[in-house]
This record gives sequence, C-alpha cells and structure tokens, in this order.
Amino acid sequence: MDKQQWMAVEEYLVSTVVGQDEALDAAAADAQRAGMPTIAVPPNHGKFLQLLALMQGAQRILEVGTLGGLSAIWMARALPEHGRLVTLEHNEAYAEVARASIARAGLDDRVEVRVGAALETLPVLAEEGAGPFDLAFLDADKENNPAYFEWALEMSRPGSVIVVDNVVRGGRVLEADSDDAMVQGVRRLHTTVAAEPRVRATSLQTVDSKEYDGFLMAYVEKPA
Ligand code: DHB
Ligand code: MG
Repeated sequence: MDKQQWMAVEEYLVSTVVGQDEALDAAAADAQRAGMPTIAVPPNHGKFLQLLALMQGAQRILEVGTLGGLSAIWMARALPEHGRLVTLEHNEAYAEVARASIARAGLDDRVEVRVGAALETLPVLAEEGAGPFDLAFLDADKENNPAYFEWALEMSRPGSVIVVDNVVRGGRVLEADSDDAMVQGVRRLHTTVAAEPRVRATSLQTVDSKEYDGFLMAYVEKPA
C-alpha cells in the first residue's frame, strides 16, 4: 500500500459515489492559485461531512479553519434555505477567496466567513448566542485544538456532533515527547476529550491522496 494506490482509490471513489462539480473544482483551483497549502479536505471527506450534516438535520454549522471554503461548501449544501454556517478564518486573503468560491456555489446567503484568530472570534460567537451548532468541524491550527473543542462544546446542545480533522498526523500522534506543537495539540485533544464526561467519542484513521491521518468525532450527550 502506498500513496499512489491511495490516490488511485480516491479517484475511483470520487468518480463513483462521491461526485464532483464545477463549483468545487473552481474553489479548489482558486485556492491553489492563491497559494494556499494543499490541505483541503478530499472530496470523499467533504461528502462525509455533508452526510453528517444531513443526518444531524443540521440548521446551524460551525467551522474553524475555512481555508479555500471547500469543506464549507460541502457542508452548507446540506443546509435548508434558512440554515446557517459560520466559518472562521485567520487569514484575510484566504477568507476573500473562500467568500468568492462560496458565492459562486450559490451559498453566500447561508454562509458567513469571519476573519480573525479563532481564539478571539469563538468567544464573540458565543457572546452573540450564535449556537447551538448541530455540527462543528474543527480544522484550523492543531495547537489550539483543545480550546477549539471546548468552545464547540460550549456552543453545542445534547445531540450535537463535533468533528476534528488531522488527529493522527502520519502516526506522529504517538510521539509523546514530540517538539512539534501540532502533535502535542492533537495529543492534548485526545486526553481532553477522553476526560470530558459530556461527550462520547472515537477517532478514525484515514488515508487519502495526500496523507495518512484521521479525524476525531464526538457526540454531545449532556447539556454544555
Ligand atoms: C495540516 C492541516 C490540515 O488541516 C490538514 O488537513 C493537513 C495538514 C497541517 O497544517 O499540516
Ligand atoms: Mg485538515
């Protein structure tokens, strides 16, 4: 098993059940043109998030880490007309590209891209009473994962689902003594979630065309 095979399988999956379309292709192309790192969710993960939103009957979705807006587009497509997705992005230039891609996908009526450090914009959202969010997708810097998780939990309701991307990092999650702040962030996320009595959680390992990684998924059982 190697990356070539993962990539070939991903192409097969995308060409069969997942499906692609022009708005997503254009969003990916614009992200690349804008010089963003190629770390957007692969289409089959984006579709997975969309299905989760549908299963949740989600009307409010929170995303931390917009990048080019691909995952926001996937998830927002599960929203009813009056639904709302708020996505937080640190980089102003990335946010501009994402806004344009979201508008081209016809979703600017229900998606809001907010610029700022999420550690600052999350408390503002909470203050505004923007929640409870039915689904939260945390996919920003990994160092602050535990704090992002706590804010997502704060703005949840019993039955909410919180998904965190990139929790395996090529297996480096095992490196307890790592001096990589991102690895330490995903390790602290796991210990934080394990000790959190309000959620029931698991983490899955994934492979895709880019990497061996994984995501954590938590179901909120008790009032935040
Ligand atoms: C990185 C971030 C991501 O969100 C991702 O999906 C893959 C890698 C990173 O910062 O290394
Ligand atoms: Mg990610």
